[in-house]
Amino acid sequence: MIDIITLLPDNIANQIAAGEVIQRPSSAVKELLENAVDAGADRIQLFITDSGKTSIQVIDNGKGMSETDARMCFERHATSKIKNIDDLFHIRTMGFRGEALASIAAVAQVELKTRRPQDELGTFLEIENSGVRKHEPCACAPGTNICMKNLFFNVPARRNFLKSNASEMRHIVDEFIHVALAFPGIFFSLTSNGQQVFHLEAASPKQRFLQLLGNQYNTKLVPVKEVTDYLDIDGFVGKPEAAKKTRGDQYFFVNSRFIRSAYLNHAVTSAFDALLPKDSFPVYALYIDLDPSQVDINVHPTKQEIKFEDEKIIYAFVQAAVKHALAQFSVSPSLDFSLNAGIMQTEAVSQPFTEEKRETVTASELYKRFSQKNQAHLIEPGNKGELKHWRDFYGSGADSSQLSVDSPETAIGIPGFENRQPPTVICQLLNTYIIASFNNGFLVIHQQHAHERILFERYTNAIQGKQSTTQQTLFPVTLELSPADSALLQELLPELQLLGYRIEPFGNGSFIIQGVPADVLQGNEKHSVELLLEQFKHFSSELKFNKREKLIHCMARQQAVKAGQPLTEKEMKTVTEELFQCQTPSVTPNGNPVFVEFTDEQLLKMFGR
Ligand SMILES: Nc1ncnc2c1ncn2[C@@H]1O[C@H](COP(=O)(O)OP(=O)(O)OP(=O)(O)O)[C@@H](O)[C@H]1O
Ligand SMILES: [Mg+2]
Repeated sequence: MIDIITLLPDNIANQIAAGEVIQRPSSAVKELLENAVDAGADRIQLFITDSGKTSIQVIDNGKGMSETDARMCFERHATSKIKNIDDLFHIRTMGFRGEALASIAAVAQVELKTRRPQDELGTFLEIENSGVRKHEPCACAPGTNICMKNLFFNVPARRNFLKSNASEMRHIVDEFIHVALAFPGIFFSLTSNGQQVFHLEAASPKQRFLQLLGNQYNTKLVPVKEVTDYLDIDGFVGKPEAAKKTRGDQYFFVNSRFIRSAYLNHAVTSAFDALLPKDSFPVYALYIDLDPSQVDINVHPTKQEIKFEDEKIIYAFVQAAVKHALAQFSVSPSLDFSLNAGIMQTEAVSQPFTEEKRETVTASELYKRFSQKNQAHLIEPGNKGELKHWRDFYGSGADSSQLSVDSPETAIGIPGFENRQPPTVICQLLNTYIIASFNNGFLVIHQQHAHERILFERYTNAIQGKQSTTQQTLFPVTLELSPADSALLQELLPELQLLGYRIEPFGNGSFIIQGVPADVLQGNEKHSVELLLEQFKHFSSELKFNKREKLIHCMARQQAVKAGQPLTEKEMKTVTEELFQCQTPSVTPNGNPVFVEFTDEQLLKMFGR
C-alpha cells in the first residue's frame, strides 16, 4: 500500500496557521503595533489605506533589527522575547509566540525597512507567500517601518469574507484604542486614507483616555487606585451619569495587555450596584498589574483572553476597588464596600492559595478595608422617559397610513386573516403582551417585538426614498464626539438624512443637530444620536446586514416601546393594526417571533376534545 501522508510546504502550513492570528485587517494592526511597543518605541505611527484592505503600515522609532534578525523575524516560532518555557511565566512583552510576522507574511505582501541605531545602514526586505523576493541594504531612519499590502491576496475566500470598509475600520480603531490606552506614555498617530484620525502626544492615562474617547468624560471620571501586595489596580471608572446604554467604553488591561473578561466586567458592574440606571453600562479603563506568574496569557492566539491563577480573588479586588473609589469620591454618600457574601466565602478570599500568599493578601490595607462592614446604602435609580417618548409618538397622531398595506394575508398564516380582519385587542398582560382575538382563536403579541417590526419597516421605506418626517429642533443642539465617533457619524450622515436626521458637521468632532425624525422626543435629540452610534458600533460585527440595515435595526430597537410598559387601549390597537400592515409581521428584524397564535382547534386539543 502507498503511504499517503506528506508534510505540507511551509508557505501552506503558514497560511493555515495564519488563520488563527490574522483574521482581518485589525488583527494585523494589533500585532504590528504591539511589535513596535515591544521594540521600545516612544513614537508609533499607523497608516491605513482602505480600512487595511489595501495597506497597513506601522513606523516606529524602536530598537530596529539586524540584517539577520530582519530575515529571521518572518520565520514561524522566531522570537527574541522568550527562550524557554519558564520565560512564559515572566512575560512583560506583548508578543512571545513568534508567529505574528510569519502569519502576516503568509497572507499578505510585506515590505520591511529596519535599522538599529548603532548600524549605519538598514535592511530592506520584500516578502510574498512567505518567501523573500528582495533583500538589500538601505538607508532609513533608526527603528522599523513595516508595510503590509493586499491582505489575503492569495486566499480569495478570506478576502471575500472581509466586511465593509466602515466595519473593518471600526475594528482597526478599536485595536488602536486598546494599544494607545495601554501605553499612554507613547506617542501614537493613526492616519486613514491620508487623513489623520488620531494624533496622541504622550500623556497621563486619564489624558490619553480623553484624547481617545472625548473630552466629555473630563469631569465624569473617578480615579481608582489600590496598591496591594498581590496586585495593583489603577485607572478610572465613569460616574453613573457617564454610563452608556450599550456596552461602550469598557477596558481592562492586565500587565498592559488589553483583555476581554465578562467575569471581571461583572465585578465592576456589580460594584455600581443600585447606582446605575437600569440597562446602563459603566464606562471604565482599569489597569491591573500583578506578578506575571499569576496569569497565563497563552490560552488564545490573540492573547485577549487570559487565565488568572485565581480568578475569584481578582474579582473581589476589582469589585472592592471600584466600590471604594465611588465612595471616596462621593459618588454615593455612604457606600458598603464590603466584599459580597458569595465572594467572602470563597476559598480564594478566606484562604488564598498558600498560607504565605494568604498572609500577604490579608495584611494588605485594601483587604482590611473590605473585611470591615460599613453602612449599607440605597440609591434609587431614576430612569423614566421612554414611555413618555413613545406615548408622544403615538399621541401626536403619527400617520399610520404612511405604511403600505401589502397583502397581510399572504405574509402570515393566521386563519382569520384570509378575510383581512385585524385582530381585536382584548387586554395587555404583564405589561408586555397584547392579547388579541381573531375569528378563529387568539394571539399573544410581544409589544416590543411588534413595535420593532413596525418601525423597522417604516424606516426601511423611508431610507428607500419614501418620505420620512423630520422635526426641526427648537434650538440647534451641539454634539461633541471623539475622533473615532465623529468619523463614524460622518460615514452615516447620508443614511441618517434619509431617516429624518438633519446633522451638520462643524469641524473638530463637533456636529449641529438641526432636526431629528418625528418620533424622537424633544430634548432627546443628542442622546438619540449618541445611542445610535453606540448601538451601531456594537452591532457592526453582525455579518448578515449591510450598513443601512444595521442603522435601521438600531433605530427601530432604540425607538421601540419596551416590554414592561403599560399601554393604553388606543396604543395597543395602533400597534396591533400597524403590525398586520407590515410585510413580515410574524418575526422581528432579528428573527425572533412577534406573536404566538392559539387556534380554536389547538385549544380544543389541549382540553382533550
Ligand atoms: N517593530 C519591530 N522592531 C524591532 N523588532 C521587531 C519588530 N517587529 C518584530 N520584531 C522582531 O521580530 C520578532 C518576531 O515578531 P513576531 O511578531 O512575529 O513575534 P513576537 O512578537 O516575538 O511574538 P507574537 O507572535 O506573540 O507577536 C520579534 O520577536 C522581534 O524580535
Ligand atoms: Mg509580535
